[in-house]
Amino acid sequence: MDLAEAQEFLDQFYAETSPTTRFDHRLWQIRHEIETTGSYTHTVEELTFGARVAWRNSARCIGRLYWNSLRVRDRRDVTKPADVAAQCVEHLHEATRGGRIRSTITVFAPDRPDQPGPRIHNDQLVRYAGHRLPNGEVRGDGRYADFTDHAVALGWQRPEPPGRFDVLPLVISGGDTEPEIFDLPADAVLEVPLSHPDHEWLADLRLRWHAVPAISNMPLDIGGVTYPAAPFNGWYLGTEIGARNLVDADRYNLLPVIAERLGLDTSSERTLWRDRALVEMVRAVQHSFDEAGVTMADHHSESRRFLTHVAREESAGRRCPADWSWIVPPVSGGLTPVYHRYYDEPDPTTRPAFLQP
Ligand code: ARG
Repeated sequence: MDLAEAQEFLDQFYAETSPTTRFDHRLWQIRHEIETTGSYTHTVEELTFGARVAWRNSARCIGRLYWNSLRVRDRRDVTKPADVAAQCVEHLHEATRGGRIRSTITVFAPDRPDQPGPRIHNDQLVRYAGHRLPNGEVRGDGRYADFTDHAVALGWQRPEPPGRFDVLPLVISGGDTEPEIFDLPADAVLEVPLSHPDHEWLADLRLRWHAVPAISNMPLDIGGVTYPAAPFNGWYLGTEIGARNLVDADRYNLLPVIAERLGLDTSSERTLWRDRALVEMVRAVQHSFDEAGVTMADHHSESRRFLTHVAREESAGRRCPADWSWIVPPVSGGLTPVYHRYYDEPDPTTRPAFLQP
């Protein structure tokens, strides 16, 4: 544990907030704790600020306008896989709120010199299985075929027959123990069945998606302390589901199906059948979430909000690093204002941060 990293965080915390403890005193406490235990413990205020700033520093996220309202669930006393799983379930309930989604993070025990913290192996709390079929195809989400195999090897009883939207179990290890699997109870996973405002046949395809994107494999790094399990969620942008998850060739690859039902001429790329089917897919997603009363942003509004955020950051005297290729939506890029400019280059050493798994 490097005192300099702790001090750098403390400097930022004191510069941006008004803590009641004197800076010198808090720094002395931290130094003392590091000398005697090899690490130190954030106050709840430090943890909350650190998690929010880690979001603010996430160069790939277009939704950062709301960084300062992130709800932080302090579960640093939770280390056992079964308890971590139970708290993830509670996280989903509290973040979902029947559809009025709240940006939430749950922070579990940090890594300590003598004891690594627990780890969630899923990349999100809710994901759909990709079942390998005897004919070599995958039923479900192609991206999760390996993870699904892994879960089965750990003892997961997959539904029989395997479906296209089977929610994967949580795979969690505690410190240095072997991973264990935990099924998510159905009432913790809100899902939206898809329909289209004009095309009734779309509902017959029996497509659906889960309401809450909750990333669970990015360690949270604050002032030299690493929290390996700190799942966090926001709410979806329609394009993430409608233009990527259901559409990417290695995911659900649905454009040929949609195009056929729309009666489009697929004989040549130049008919733009893919583009036309894509827009209808995004419309269906947006429409269905609206009908279900589940929070979802659209790429036009969210792009404008992001530029508001960049301007606010600049007037607060801060840089707002952003990764253009992640910020620009995967449809109609040039129609959104985020397309028409460049951003400050992200610096991989910036902290607090969510780290790459
Ligand atoms: N793109 C990811 C997905 O489709 C989710 C990433 C986080 N998105 C968000 N709106 N917070 O599942």
